[in-house]
Amino acid sequence: MGSVLSVNAQRLVADLEALGQIGRVAAGGLSRTSFSATDTEARNWYFERCAEAGLTVVVDGLGNLIVSSPDVVPETTDRPAVWSGSHIDTVPNGGQFDGALGAIAALECLRRIHEEGIVLERPVRSIVYTDEEGSYAHLLGSSALARGYSLAELEAMNGRDGDRFVDAFTAAGGNLDAATRTKIDPATLHATVELHIEQGPTLENLGHEIGVVTGIVGLGGGSVTFRGRADHAGTTPMLGRKDALVAAGALVVAFPDLAARIGDGAVITSGVISVEPGSANVIPELVHVTVDFRHPDANQLAALEAEIRGAARAIADQYGVDVSIDLEPSIPPAPLNQGIQDLIAAAAAARGLSSSCLPSGAGHDSQNMATLAPTGMIFVPSIDGRSHCPQENTSWIDVENGANVLLDTLIQLAGS
Ligand code: GLV
Ligand code: MN
Ligand code: MN
Repeated sequence: MGSVLSVNAQRLVADLEALGQIGRVAAGGLSRTSFSATDTEARNWYFERCAEAGLTVVVDGLGNLIVSSPDVVPETTDRPAVWSGSHIDTVPNGGQFDGALGAIAALECLRRIHEEGIVLERPVRSIVYTDEEGSYAHLLGSSALARGYSLAELEAMNGRDGDRFVDAFTAAGGNLDAATRTKIDPATLHATVELHIEQGPTLENLGHEIGVVTGIVGLGGGSVTFRGRADHAGTTPMLGRKDALVAAGALVVAFPDLAARIGDGAVITSGVISVEPGSANVIPELVHVTVDFRHPDANQLAALEAEIRGAARAIADQYGVDVSIDLEPSIPPAPLNQGIQDLIAAAAAARGLSSSCLPSGAGHDSQNMATLAPTGMIFVPSIDGRSHCPQENTSWIDVENGANVLLDTLIQLAGS
């Protein structure tokens, strides 16, 4: 039998619907990119939910929110804690569930434990991680917890509009000194669990209600910049031009072949290209291409990076332009804890829910947390497998089921 305790589904749905209105844009989705006004509004909304539930929020140096309930048994307060959470920032014009589900479900679990006065061996904390979607750096908040950032690293971070992280961060009230002191002691953590939408079609195709995540894909990324020469678009013959955009285009067109050379599981994407000087009648001089590449295997991820670097250099030579390649250190693939996978599968079975094991092709803060403590993830189905778009959707019954499996898993981890 699973725990008799269940989430308050009505409150969970109402919260997800309310949060789903913050940052709603005319294009139909949500834009709550980190450190934007709408992200701040969502965080303030979350603070209010915690306050009305009698929960305490600590904001760490990079804006991660760590929520506690007044512990029923004082001597457990300092024991290694069980963390659960996700993010409430979104991609531009993104969906309502990516991140929000896991963040609000964790809060709901903590509310239920607190309001029922359940005595556990270890504290449970509800977490909101900063900038998961990488407006400035992919998995920023959890990277800060797992490895920390130097001031130089923070100063080098730029947003998708070329804006500086340090400006956005300090404008939002952040303190740069505190931002370099965010690394946590793994001894303070017992385990972490994150509920998330699958963001792909596997569970829906199988007709299964719960996904037990076996591991998270490795992530690499950054930008490639081609520098050519600005010249008149009408008077400069095609032969001998140094067109940075023609080179950048060749790199993007090569992505499917580069990924195919590595084989199954390799993906490469460019989601942002900027062109300078940016005039229809000037040959492009400077082109920045973002690159996001992923593979579930660490060696293959490194091989994929080598393919991208090699192709960028060869293309630059071919088109007579200069190239600089600025890739961040890759975030390694993270196998998830087998014991927690077993707990999730058992919790699903006890509630009569079908489940299957699957890997995650999306990045999650859990892959950083897995370097600190035993970590697990629970997936629920995404309708039509859609995500990072306004059509992203999950049925309310799947939301409730996922939150209940999360609650059972947290109680198991905190109680024994
Ligand atoms: C996060 O959603 C990612 O996988 O990029
Ligand atoms: Mn997410
Ligand atoms: Mn996402």
